[in-house]
Amino acid sequence: MRSNRWHHTHKEPTRHTAIKTMNPVQDMIKTPITIGGKEIPNRLFLAPLAGLGHVAMRQIIDEFGSCGLFFSEMCSAKALPFENRAISPMFRWRDEEAERLVMQIVGATPLEMARAAERIEKEGLFGVDINFGCSVASICKKEGGAAVLKDPDRAEAIVREVRRATTLPLFVKYRTGWKDDAGFAAMMGQRFESAGADALVFHPRISPDRRSRPPKWAHIKAVKESVALPVFGNGNVFNTADLTRMVTTTGCDGVSLGRIAIARPFVFAEMLEEKTFGPELYPQIALRFLDLVEAAFAPSYAVRLYKKFLLYFAANFKFGHPVFKQLAHATTLEALRDNVHQTFSQPLDLAATPNLNLFTK
Ligand SMILES: Cc1cc2nc3c(=O)[nH]c(=O)nc-3n(C[C@H](O)[C@H](O)[C@H](O)COP(=O)(O)O)c2cc1C
Repeated sequence: MRSNRWHHTHKEPTRHTAIKTMNPVQDMIKTPITIGGKEIPNRLFLAPLAGLGHVAMRQIIDEFGSCGLFFSEMCSAKALPFENRAISPMFRWRDEEAERLVMQIVGATPLEMARAAERIEKEGLFGVDINFGCSVASICKKEGGAAVLKDPDRAEAIVREVRRATTLPLFVKYRTGWKDDAGFAAMMGQRFESAGADALVFHPRISPDRRSRPPKWAHIKAVKESVALPVFGNGNVFNTADLTRMVTTTGCDGVSLGRIAIARPFVFAEMLEEKTFGPELYPQIALRFLDLVEAAFAPSYAVRLYKKFLLYFAANFKFGHPVFKQLAHATTLEALRDNVHQTFSQPLDLAATPNLNLFTK
C-alpha cells in the first residue's frame, strides 16, 4: 500500500488510463507502455543512481506517486547471486515495489550477467537493466559499465546471454561510447535489439566525460531512428519544459530522470499531475527521508546516504550551498534531525529553478 502521507498535495495517478491534457507530450508520457510483455503505467522513470536511488529514496518517491518505473542502483553481477536481501545495501527492495522495480546489473562477462539475471527473475522483480554506461574508474577497470562499449562484440554477447537467461523485460542503459559518434551509438542500439533487448535507455554523453558538459540530445534521435525498440532518453531533464523539449526534439518514447528526482522526490507528480509543492513541504521531506534511511540502514551508513541526498535537496534553495553546509554538519542521525529543525526554523527562500552547480560536477 502506498502511504497517503502527502495526500494534501498528492493525487493518486490513474493507472492504465491516460487523462487527456492540453499538452500532447504530457499525454504521451502518461500513456502506458508495454515492454517485454509487461505494462508500465507511464513513461517517466527513475534512473539508476548509485548511492542515491536506494530503497529509502524509492519509498519517498513512491509516496508522492507518478513514477512509472523504478531502476535500482547498479549491483555487481558477480556478487548478486549470493546477496542477502535483508542486509545488502543495494540488492534490497520493499515487497510493494517489487513489481515496479528493475534491478540494474554491472559486470564484465556474459555468464556472470546471466547468473545475476536469473536471480532477479527468481525474486519476482519487474525486469533487468544492463549497465553499459557507468564510466567510474573502479567499474571500468574491471571491464564493466561503459568499458564494455570498447568491445562491441562482448557487449552484444552479454545482452544475448542475459536474454537467454531470463524472460523478464530487458533494458540496456548505455552512453554514446568513448568517441562522440552518434553512428556508433545507433549501431550499438541495433546490436542490442538483435541480441534481444526489449528497450534502450540512452544517455548521450561520451566516457569519461561526466556531467560537466551538456548531453547531446540529437544523439537520442539518432538512436531512436535506428531501432524499432522503445528508446528512453536521459540526461539534463530538470523541469517540464526540458521534458517537452527532449520528447519533441528526439522522438523518444519516454524519459528517465536522474538527479532531479533526488532533489525533488515529488518531481514525477509535479511533471505529470501538474501539482505544485509549497515551501512548507521541504522540512517535511527532509524529516521523512531521515526516518526512512534510519529505518533501512545501519546508523553510520544512513548518515552517509543522507548527506549525499542533502547535496541535491539543498539545490532547491536560493542559498543552497550554505543551506547544505548547515544541514550536513553532523555525524549522527540525531544531529542531522536537529539541523533540519534549526535550518527550517526560519522559512527559506526557494530558488526559481534548482541550483545545478550543487550537483553538476
Ligand atoms: C551519483 C550518481 C550515481 C549514478 N549511478 C548510476 C548507476 O548506478 N547506474 C547507471 O546506469 N547510471 C548511473 N548514473 C547516471 C544516471 O543514471 C543518469 O544517466 C545521469 O545522472 C544523467 O541523468 P540526469 O541528468 O537526469 O541526472 C549515476 C549518476 C549520478 C549523478
